[in-house]
This record gives sequence, structure tokens and C-alpha cells, in this order.
Amino acid sequence: MPEAPFIDTLAEAYDADIHTAHREAREQSWYAHTPMGFVFLRYEDVLQVLRDRRFRELGADALPPAGIVDGPIWDWFHQIMSNKEGEDHARLRRLVSRAFTPRRVESLRPMMRTTAHDLIDRFAPDGACEFVSQFAAPYPVRVISALIGVPPEDFARFHAWSRDLALAFGSRIAEERPRIEAALESLNAYVDGLLELRAKAPQDDLISALLAVEESGDRLSREELRALVTVLIFGGQDTTQCQLACAISTFMDHPDQWGRLAAEPSLAASAAEEVLRFEPAGSGSPRVATEDIEYKGLRLPAGTIVLPSGPAANRDPAMYPDPDRFDMTREHAEPMLTFGGGAHYCLGASLARFELQEALVILAQRLPKLAPDGEARWRRGALIRGPETLPIRFEA
Ligand code: HEM
Repeated sequence: MPEAPFIDTLAEAYDADIHTAHREAREQSWYAHTPMGFVFLRYEDVLQVLRDRRFRELGADALPPAGIVDGPIWDWFHQIMSNKEGEDHARLRRLVSRAFTPRRVESLRPMMRTTAHDLIDRFAPDGACEFVSQFAAPYPVRVISALIGVPPEDFARFHAWSRDLALAFGSRIAEERPRIEAALESLNAYVDGLLELRAKAPQDDLISALLAVEESGDRLSREELRALVTVLIFGGQDTTQCQLACAISTFMDHPDQWGRLAAEPSLAASAAEEVLRFEPAGSGSPRVATEDIEYKGLRLPAGTIVLPSGPAANRDPAMYPDPDRFDMTREHAEPMLTFGGGAHYCLGASLARFELQEALVILAQRLPKLAPDGEARWRRGALIRGPETLPIRFEA
């Protein structure tokens, strides 16, 4: 087998331009070496790994190298759904799906529209804003809060905790440990309080629905409920925030398509899909081989870490003709892999899709002539990627 290239996935240069790194490596081989193990670069191989149950999520294995072997982060990593496997995982997903239904998600669409208008009203007269803090961050916080049943006066605290929790999924976890632990402890206490309240007086929200879920006598324990709610808060906030910022950054490079989206709102779904393909907020979720595996002649001993890269798969020319061209009218024969795949496929994918569809059309209509208003600052060393700050201007 020809020697595969090396991609330093921990280097700043990689974060700065992952697509070029993937393209150059993919031209030489279907995979590349990384400081952690391997990254798979082609659509069919990425999908294969995501679906192969001989690979499990990296999960808590990421903690000991950062010196974390106990404490709140350790406990949390062992409780959350994304780090469970097999029947434990399937049971949680079954129970959650009974409460987190497509109907509940769909019913949030009017609220998404009102929220988008309300946030834009605050900065529209200025003709400029810092898009992340003024829109991309507060928008999903409000949506996920409405879904779960968090009162508006707690939005700000909520947002701060979920932002700090996001640091647990990046390369700075060791140095940020005190901050992450403080956020986790506050969030756990807050969610416990909310569970207590809803147990006494149920409302029409996800927390109440989760408390009521029962399947053949099986119910979610209080600990499971708490872990679930914290993971929904985190999963539903940071990812969508980054994806919205990635979307705006992309559209600024394609002003003609921004104008067209404003004029043709029926393009909302395909615009969101193309943004998710072209500039995904997720870098892919690393997997670990649970046994010795041989894949296409490549030996992967048990314990090997493989990153099935969504961003690389999404630009595989074998799947998407002219993959580096952003085209919101593109027809996707197969779904992009930004939401992962297999048993762990993103639980909030339809919620995220609706959030993007609703927000992008309203933004396109209300922020014409969108353009950068200074340098954007992109995140470094994190699994969830995107601009951290994004100054924009537009026609007021
Ligand atoms: C654009 C926004 C989003 C992106 C890019 C994203 C991406 C992902 C990815 C890559 C995974 C892992 C899939 C795998 O390992 O195969 C995942 C899992 C998950 N996501 Fe999302 N997500 C987004 C929005 C959301 C939202 C809005 C929620 C919740 C309301 C959510 C909740 C979850 C949960 C609970 C899991 C774990 C599922 C499991 O292990 O069974 N995500 N997401």
C-alpha cells in the first residue's frame, strides 16, 4: 500500500484551512495519518466507519491524556448518551425519541421565526453587528430553552454554561478544566431544580415529557434525565451557533446566492443543506476500534483512533461534482455527513435543520448587501468549528 500522507490535525494551520488539507491528502490516499491515529477522507469510507459497530465513540478515552480520571467531567462523560454503546445506548435513544418527537420539533418553527425577527430588530437599524454574540449564540439558546422548558430569565446563564461546556470537546480541556467543571456543576444543579419543579407540576415541554416517558415499565432515572437534559442543552446550542456563523461566513463569499435566497424563500431547505455540506460546524466524531480490524488492507489494532471526517466526506468529488463550489440549488443524491451516521446519528438533526432554514431566509431578507466588517476570528482546536466572532455590515 502506498504511504499515506500525514495531516497535523492539532496544528493551527489545519484549523485555518481544513478543506485544503483534506483535498491535498485525498488526492494521494483515501486516508491520512494524524497525531491521534487516522483520518478517513472519502465519503464511502467515512459512512462505513460511522455505521460499523466494531468502532465505538471515543468518548471518555479522550480524558486520561488530559489528566482527567475522575470528577464531574469524568462522571458526565460516562453518563451522556453519545458515549454509551450497544443496548444501553439503544434504550436511551428509544426512550428519548418518545418525548423528543418530530411533532414537538416542528411546532417550534413559528417561535424560531419570532425569535429571529426579535434579535434582528435590535441591531438592524445600525447596519452592522457582531453576528455571533448578537444572533448566532442567542438564537439557538432561546430555541432549545423553549423546547426544554427553561424560562427566559435564565437564558443568559444557560448560554454561559453551555459555552464553557463546549470546551470539554476541544484540545484545551486540561487548561480549561476548572471552568468546565464549574459550568457542569451549575448546570447539573439547575437541571435538578427544573426536574423537581416539573415533576410536581408538568407543563407542555420536553422536560415534562421526558419525566413521563415509559416503555414496558422502563423509565429514565433521575440521573439519566439530568445527563440527557445537559447534553441536549450543550448539543443544541454550541453546534447550531457555530453552524449559523459558518453559514453567514459562506454567504458573504457568495453575495449573489444571498440575494437569491431572500427573493426565493422556497430555497431555504436546500440552502441549509448546502451550507451544512460546504462549511460544516462538526469536524466529525472520532471512533475507536474495539477489536483488531482490517479495512481495505489497512490494519487497525484494537484501540486505534479513527476520525471519520464529515467535512472531508462532504467534499469528496466522487459524491459531489465540483465539491468546492458552493451552490445552494445543488441536488444532494445522498445526505451530507455533518450530522454523523449510524447509531449515533445526531439526535437534533431535524431541529438544527429547521433552525437554519427559518433563520437563513429571515436573515437574507433583512440583511441585504451582507459583507464583512472586519476580521472574523475562527475557533482553534475544537471539534465544533466555526467563527468565534464575525463582524458584519449590511444595508440598514
Ligand atoms: C448544526 C448543528 C448540529 C451539528 C453539526 C451536530 C452534529 C452532531 C454530530 C456530528 C453528532 C455525532 C454523530 C456521530 O457520532 O455519528 C451529533 C450527535 C448528537 N447531537 Fe447533534 N449536531 C447539531 C445540532 C444538534 C441539536 C440542535 C441537538 C439537540 C437538540 C443535538 C443533539 C445531539 C445528541 C444528543 C447527539 C448524540 C446522539 C447519540 O449519541 O445517539 N445536536 N451531533
